[in-house]
Amino acid sequence: MSISKRRFGFTKDGREVTCFTIDNGKLKAEILDYGVTIKNLFVPDKSGKPVDVVLGYDSIKEYEENDGYLGATIGRVGNRIAKGKFTLNGEDYTLAVNNGPNHLHGGLKGFDKAIWGSEERENSIIFSHLSPDGDEGYPGNLKVTVEVILEENGITLNYSAETDKDTLINLTNHSYFNLNGGGSVLNHTLKLNAEKFNVGDGDCLPTGEIASVFGTVMDFTKERSIGNGVDSDEPCVRLSRGYDSNFILNGEGPAAVLKSERSGIIMTVSTTEPGVQVYSANFLTPRRGKNGADYTYRHALCLETQHFPDSVHHKDWPTCVLKKGERFSSKTTYSFNV
Ligand code: GAL
Repeated sequence: MSISKRRFGFTKDGREVTCFTIDNGKLKAEILDYGVTIKNLFVPDKSGKPVDVVLGYDSIKEYEENDGYLGATIGRVGNRIAKGKFTLNGEDYTLAVNNGPNHLHGGLKGFDKAIWGSEERENSIIFSHLSPDGDEGYPGNLKVTVEVILEENGITLNYSAETDKDTLINLTNHSYFNLNGGGSVLNHTLKLNAEKFNVGDGDCLPTGEIASVFGTVMDFTKERSIGNGVDSDEPCVRLSRGYDSNFILNGEGPAAVLKSERSGIIMTVSTTEPGVQVYSANFLTPRRGKNGADYTYRHALCLETQHFPDSVHHKDWPTCVLKKGERFSSKTTYSFNV
């Protein structure tokens, strides 16, 4: 196991960005302190050749200039909050609005754009960030950490947070996975441990309805190719130009298994979170990625483990309220085999 670091570059406003490499001889991850971004993740394919299974860029300039949150940590609240407004303890709050009329992925300057503090451990790095009271409209000074652990066969993200005033929290990672290292993701197969999903509207906001996957293209309870269904007339898929929905996890066993026959790589996602946003990169506009790669829409699958979108407006769903004096913690592991 080795951990090393190098200067990755400087942001437009002159902040230095560091790239950490964690290598265990089998897997190798490169993580930026900018957004705790997973820049590369090398995994051996069926012939033992390393494949970089996440999309990303070669320079900090590209991370700053492009949209899409490639590989980044998302917070305070991942996914959407309707109209960027909510009421907590009788007080009304207004958040930054950055996705049509709604708040998305923490706002205009979410955790993906912060440079986090870092502390190296034996096989992990603990990244920390202080989000001040009023940040993007959220109440409370929030101390948040993400420990990135390189396991023998995978990578674990351990999230924790504390606040000095009741607030909202829903942390995730926005890696774009492609188990062939590039090209269309539609030939990958997916299995989800989910029998229900949140029905979404044209803005990808939950309507409140929780629907069964059975008999629809949302049914991934048995391994199925992503391409088979991505162009269907199922309203949630049609409105989002592909998969972009929160699936409600059954609670026991891995949340998701993504496979590519070509590389032979199988990725298993396990999480303590109650949901996973399955997003087939429908809004990934054509762009240049690492090593001159061409990325375009549907070139990756994001599996964003999370609380349900807009849950602050749905009292019966698992709460994303973090109370003063309590500690938020959550854990997601992506493990790999062939
Ligand atoms: C996803 C979200 C998509 C899109 C994307 C970023 O998490 O579900 O609708 O906003 O992030 O481009």
